[in-house]
Amino acid sequence: MEETSTDIQNKVVLITGGTSGVGKAIALGLAKLGAKIVIISRSHERGQKALHDIAEATGNEKGEFMVADLSLQSSIRKVSEEFKRKYERLDVLANVGGAVYFEKQLTSEGIERTFALNYLSHFLLTNELLDTLKESRPSRVITVSGAPRFLKKANFNIEDVQSINHFSGLGATTQALFARVIFTYELARRLEGTGVRAFTFHPGLVQSNLTRNAPWYIKVYGKLANRRAKEDCEIGVYLAAAKEVENVNGVFFDDKKQLMTLPILQDEEIGRRLWSISEELAGISKM
Ligand SMILES: NC(=O)c1ccc[n+]([C@@H]2O[C@H](COP(=O)([O-])OP(=O)(O)OC[C@H]3O[C@@H](n4cnc5c(N)ncnc54)[C@H](OP(=O)(O)O)[C@@H]3O)[C@@H](O)[C@H]2O)c1
Repeated sequence: MEETSTDIQNKVVLITGGTSGVGKAIALGLAKLGAKIVIISRSHERGQKALHDIAEATGNEKGEFMVADLSLQSSIRKVSEEFKRKYERLDVLANVGGAVYFEKQLTSEGIERTFALNYLSHFLLTNELLDTLKESRPSRVITVSGAPRFLKKANFNIEDVQSINHFSGLGATTQALFARVIFTYELARRLEGTGVRAFTFHPGLVQSNLTRNAPWYIKVYGKLANRRAKEDCEIGVYLAAAKEVENVNGVFFDDKKQLMTLPILQDEEIGRRLWSISEELAGISKM
């Protein structure tokens, strides 16, 4: 971040997944720059621990956390209302929380869990907070995705977005990575001229607890990967804070800050269809 200029000091940044992995790395980086970090976690204990770690590492004690289960729309709506009551502005929304599940399971609201958490939560939380983001313009929505080598060859299944018919844990996770990118491009098209920007990015290999639900052999792989992984997520911090990107919108960056095109995922018709399916699944009225 040395050569990057920012004015993130005291800006309000809401981060899902801020207790671990990519989200925590971004929270740390932004706290170091003086931002006010608000973290969403399912647990008081993990939220408190993350804030403690961040304050200890950065000296920034402005952080707060809110509790929600982002796989449930009722919980997303509740935490969004709570956020709007508590904070007057939202400068950056970072959609980073996620998990890998190896078995198909519907949430109590009837949505496939991987899709509900890894994609639909980003769609709904963003929509619930859109007015606040617009009022706080210029503001940003940044959404994590995956490695460009997968995204470039994306085979997104728009006919079965939740991977209900052919479920595999990794397949459903990849489908959600594609959906996050399609969502970002469509969001940017819809927000043109509002002062709210939308970016998506590959975080690189960041230390993570993603294999916590995995069979033992994948857990072993996760442990080995963590040895090679980095603790920070420079690209996430850059996209949340850097002035250099204040005039771009609807873009994907790899972990080396390279702006890349992903033609398959930029298709406008797919973007419109996914938006419309998401509105229906999330029970929100047409934007
Ligand atoms: N790590 C990498 O190298 C990497 C690379 C590419 C893409 N990604 C993507 O980045 C995302 C995050 O990965 P990670 O490595 O940061 O994983 P992680 O270390 O396992 O952290 C996951 C975070 O998501 C939160 N979370 C999980 N389920 C939740 C729920 N139901 N409600 C609310 N929050 C929930 C967790 O919070 P609580 O447990 O506190 O609730 C935690 O903070 C994933 O979607 C992954 O695909 C990661």
